Amino acid sequence: MFCEENPKPASLFSNKTNKNYSDVKKEALSCQRCHLREGAQQVVFGTGNPSSSLMLVGEGPGAREDELGEPFVGRAGQLLTKILAAINLQRSDVYISNIVKCRPPDNRQPSPQEMEVCMPWLREEFRLIKPKVLVLLGATAYKGLIDPQGKITRDRGKWIEKNNLLIMPTFHPAALLRDPRKKVPVWEDFQKIEQALKN
Ligand code: URA
Repeated sequence: MFCEENPKPASLFSNKTNKNYSDVKKEALSCQRCHLREGAQQVVFGTGNPSSSLMLVGEGPGAREDELGEPFVGRAGQLLTKILAAINLQRSDVYISNIVKCRPPDNRQPSPQEMEVCMPWLREEFRLIKPKVLVLLGATAYKGLIDPQGKITRDRGKWIEKNNLLIMPTFHPAALLRDPRKKVPVWEDFQKIEQALKN
């Protein structure tokens, strides 16, 4: 279990089920495993191409995502769409999801326990999509999946290799909206991602 004082990153590689994508999605959409569901309008499951070699993971749904039932459709999501277009990818070419599937109240960060309880859904998505490249959008996804003590400002842009998977932590698009100086480093990170997808 997740221990608040000494949290461990969640493993993405430990799922043993053999359910198919539509069954997993159907089950996830009726999930009530934690209290986040009570304050949310709906469960926001991942979207895009389940056969993509590129999977992106953010923090959790915001107001717009909660309303529409799709990840990254608010302002940050529109920016993400532009970032992807800059490397010639459409949203339908990639798979986009979040570390938690229900909107945390007031858009606060999900707690380690909330991430832990929701993680089986992300593991299932990851098992089914089998991406070649995984992009972690922002500190919450990075800390939750790789290093709870990690610093996105220090660690972004550096490849992490695990079980043949290439993982790239980068800034969350919402951080770029707050601080446009982060656009250049993110541009550089996505250039690396484009290159890795070609190799
Ligand atoms: N921010 C996220 O991390 N995920 C979304 O789906 C929207 C905004």
